[in-house]
Amino acid sequence: MEKHITIIKGDGIGPEIVTEAMKVLDAIAEQYDHTWIYKEILAGGCAIDAYGTSLTEEALDACVNSDSVLLGAVGGPKWDQVDPSIRPEKALLGIRKGMGLYANLRPATILPQLAHTSPLRKDIVDRGIDFMVVRELISGVYFGEKTTIEENGELVACDQMMYREHEIRRIAHTAFETARKRKSRVISVDKANVLDTSRLWRKIVHEVASEYPDVEVSDMLVDNCAMQIVKDPSQFDVVVTENMFGDILSDEASMITGSIGLIPSASLGESSVGMYEPIHGSAPDIAGKNIANPIGTILAAAMMLKYSFDLSKESDAIVSAVHETLSQGYRCIDIMEEGMKQLSCSEMGDQIIKNMK
Ligand SMILES: NC(=O)c1ccc[n+]([C@@H]2O[C@H](COP(=O)([O-])OP(=O)(O)OC[C@H]3O[C@@H](n4cnc5c(N)ncnc54)[C@H](O)[C@@H]3O)[C@@H](O)[C@H]2O)c1
Repeated sequence: MEKHITIIKGDGIGPEIVTEAMKVLDAIAEQYDHTWIYKEILAGGCAIDAYGTSLTEEALDACVNSDSVLLGAVGGPKWDQVDPSIRPEKALLGIRKGMGLYANLRPATILPQLAHTSPLRKDIVDRGIDFMVVRELISGVYFGEKTTIEENGELVACDQMMYREHEIRRIAHTAFETARKRKSRVISVDKANVLDTSRLWRKIVHEVASEYPDVEVSDMLVDNCAMQIVKDPSQFDVVVTENMFGDILSDEASMITGSIGLIPSASLGESSVGMYEPIHGSAPDIAGKNIANPIGTILAAAMMLKYSFDLSKESDAIVSAVHETLSQGYRCIDIMEEGMKQLSCSEMGDQIIKNMK
């Protein structure tokens, strides 16, 4: 198989972790006889430095015209004061919107080797944590009209939250399809006791549910969901929710799994083209030291093989090699414990490749 992959290393630890994921992808290509054609582009803070904007039209074109995008992370203190219209994160919103990536899939899975790193009680963790948050990504309050006006001598800010039927329908389909590949249970999260957008959300999700009689569906209010994720995460299989609720709940879900350095995420649209990245940021505090944990990015590359290229065997080979590496006691600094063997970022990549063979 031959695929064109756009590479965005980004800022901070981005270049280090993406380099390791590319090494792993290259090893897969060699082992399974595939060809990856990489096109590297700048986006985020480094693009602001180079071009005065976090995402150029050419960069977005490269993303849209590739078979998938692999991203490290963008941003850092250097660009905290730039004009909001060109901030590094704007690049991500621009790519998501430009590529029509309306679904964000973020697994919350606890690896048995790291179960003790969860901040939750052992008896709760022992019941198992393995669910997927499916978050609507390109609508809702983050994309609504924003205004700040002066009224009666004080400032008044307003962010509009809006959902159209088709935006809810397509993400609901993603959730039900995802559930079919898992334990066939969807919990739809909203705030239907207060918000009109949520009442429409609930109505459409249930309409779509009727097309998936094999998948169990139920509703949960977002405040209750936030509590249930720490009380009994084992009850969840697929959680589908709107943009802002999903942003917050997926961060909560990742925290209970122990380390943000290990968690990947996929952003998908209508076609098989997606954007894949770790969930963490650019970690400027450890950038350039070759100590970042590349596993989240390596698992993001594994998700790319599965969801965009339909290469489940190759994807599973990467996941197994990561598990094997952790079982062997290898750790990066963020998850290092007594009795374990500490590896640098590049050594972690090498060890995972060794375990793929
Ligand atoms: N998708 C993205 O590109 C993205 C996401 C979140 C934050 N950011 C940006 O990243 C910058 C830093 O944000 P932050 O500090 O709030 O969050 P962060 O995720 O970058 O870092 C939080 C903490 O986790 C550590 N950490 C993160 N990833 C790690 C890894 N792979 N290995 C080891 N340790 C790791 C960092 O050293 C830091 O102590 C900000 O400019 C923010 O806007 C970007």
